Amino acid sequence: MEHITDRHGLRQWRQRCGTVGFVPTMGALHAGHLALVEAARAHTDHVIASIFVNPTQFGPQEDFGRYPRPLERDQQLLIEAGCSALFHPPVTAIYAGQDQTRVRVEPLGSDLCGRFRPTHFQGVATVVAILLNLVRPDQVFLGWKDYQQVILLRKMVQDLAMPVAVVGVPTVREADGLAMSSRNRYLAPAERQQAVGLHRALEAAQTAWRDGERRVESLVSGARQVLASFGIGDIDYVEVRDAETLDPLPVPDQRAAQTRPVMLIAARVGAARLIDNRILTLE
Ligand code: PAF
Repeated sequence: MEHITDRHGLRQWRQRCGTVGFVPTMGALHAGHLALVEAARAHTDHVIASIFVNPTQFGPQEDFGRYPRPLERDQQLLIEAGCSALFHPPVTAIYAGQDQTRVRVEPLGSDLCGRFRPTHFQGVATVVAILLNLVRPDQVFLGWKDYQQVILLRKMVQDLAMPVAVVGVPTVREADGLAMSSRNRYLAPAERQQAVGLHRALEAAQTAWRDGERRVESLVSGARQVLASFGIGDIDYVEVRDAETLDPLPVPDQRAAQTRPVMLIAARVGAARLIDNRILTLE
């Protein structure tokens, strides 16, 4: 695996490659990231992953400073996963210092997680736009665990006519259903037991939906009850939205009969802010 840290090296690598699949990450890799590499390998000739803990997507009180950075372990995992190259730039290779440009996808970027992390998606969209311009991949692979991120970046790519396909890859879960996340390592053992409550709340909504419940407020209150039964009280949101656009479902009756709905949850367990989601289906 080639280890690239600057723009020049990246340009040279890119010139030698056929179709390229790109897996952007912030490192602290887990099986969810490796599933992205695997999907990219299945679709493209060469896979490049990036590891860049992007300062602009963290709020001032957030975990940028303590975000885990186990570089050697990450490199080894990428080699074993069959990655062709790693782009691991310093901040100065991404943000020139005098940069004035930020990419905003609105109003989606201020909705859901954006209500609680006001500058987060602007940071994500900006860094991914820069990375896509540098890597120039044919396809970029993103995990559906960050559902709003996938929808938002698809919109950015479409609106800016960027010549890349955004491919969403299913969430990888622990045996008990907890969605894999680099932030799960912040959980103390008792909190780890609580954290599975997000998955259980989504499963409860799925069961209710399959059994014919179509009232959004009932689906949401059922999910909130499950979260409460796991001792999860610090909830940013539990929402049911249109799965394609993340728009609210039609009002006034808020019946989701015509749409493909997704339930999304964000909640804090101990020091970790966790998110998860589930598309509600009839099976
Ligand atoms: O999902 C992530 O890890 C980050 O938001 C991303 C897409 C790598 C941008 O920094």
